[in-house]
Amino acid sequence: NLPGHVTICEVGPRDGLQNESTVVPVEIKAEFVARLVDAGHRVVETTSFVHPKWVPQLADAEELLSQVERVSGVRYPVLVPNEHGLERALARDVRDIAIFASATETFAQRNLNRSIEQSLEMFAPVIARARAAGIGVRGYLSMCFGDPWEGEVSRQQVVRIATQLLDAGCTELSLGDTIGVATPGQVDALLRDLFEVGVSADQIAVHFHDTYGQALTNTFVALQRGITTIDASAGGLGGCPYAGSATGNLATEDLVWHLHGLGIDTGIDLQKLVETSAWLVGYMGRTCLARTVAALT
Ligand code: HMG
Ligand code: MG
Repeated sequence: NLPGHVTICEVGPRDGLQNESTVVPVEIKAEFVARLVDAGHRVVETTSFVHPKWVPQLADAEELLSQVERVSGVRYPVLVPNEHGLERALARDVRDIAIFASATETFAQRNLNRSIEQSLEMFAPVIARARAAGIGVRGYLSMCFGDPWEGEVSRQQVVRIATQLLDAGCTELSLGDTIGVATPGQVDALLRDLFEVGVSADQIAVHFHDTYGQALTNTFVALQRGITTIDASAGGLGGCPYAGSATGNLATEDLVWHLHGLGIDTGIDLQKLVETSAWLVGYMGRTCLARTVAALT
């Protein structure tokens, strides 16, 4: 009883490029986004409206959004931490945003300069204002399974913050294995616990990193639990700049190979996607982490 269709949330331009030491010029980013859409993506997380000193790789957010030609039916969400970020996003006609919370105190401090509680207070008016304007709000929850400073993260804690984010008005919740330590039993148990408190599969997305090679097995468990939105990054680009041990996100090409092999539709033209990632990493002068890209080029 696997789903027939999965929506991939492509995070390469944001989660991928924010953690690359090469700063990619804005024209190349705009072409990257356009090629991802041309390959069939319907959700492309484009950039972040955060403090440019915190993430200099995405300091060109305004310019990028003015260069990206928005295609009807495609969503171009951006990360927004606070009302200042929301104002910047609204000024660029953004229709989908994501706030990003942490399941651990240490990562909340390092990523947002605040405690978990203070960050939820920071997000509340952002979520409310965005919803009132008809804007979709994804709530990321990072470090759902393990944290480099605090070790294993309690499921109770994750469920508590996850429900707070949904109660605050998030339209979707993305469960982040930010450092890629999760194993399938943990993923299954967390989803079970969330369902037990009334969260439904269609409210949840999963966001895996492949540090220990578990991202696809974890994905499979999520599919079996009815999850139909999966985050991935073209070419396996990126990690997270405020979580040192994080390696790349699950590579979109590997995910597409996996899903198509299971007979699950994604709407994505794998060959076009592979060519896009090969082009971008070639431009950046590095080898591609995605095995499917290596296999098909
Ligand atoms: P802060 O220093 O506490 O901010 O940073 P503040 O409110 O005290 O303001 C300080 C200054 O920043 C002020 O300027 C503000 O105007 C300015 P000043 O008056 O000093 O000249 N400022 C801003 N400028 C531009 N855009 C803004 C903005 N906000 C304030 N939006 C803040 C707090 C949240 C801003 C900072 O910590 C920040 O930008 N953090 C972002 C870090 C980040 O992007 N991390 C990567 C996210 S990835 C992630 O979380 C994981 C995820 O990928 C999933 C996964 O992989 O698991 C989602
Ligand atoms: Mg990530």
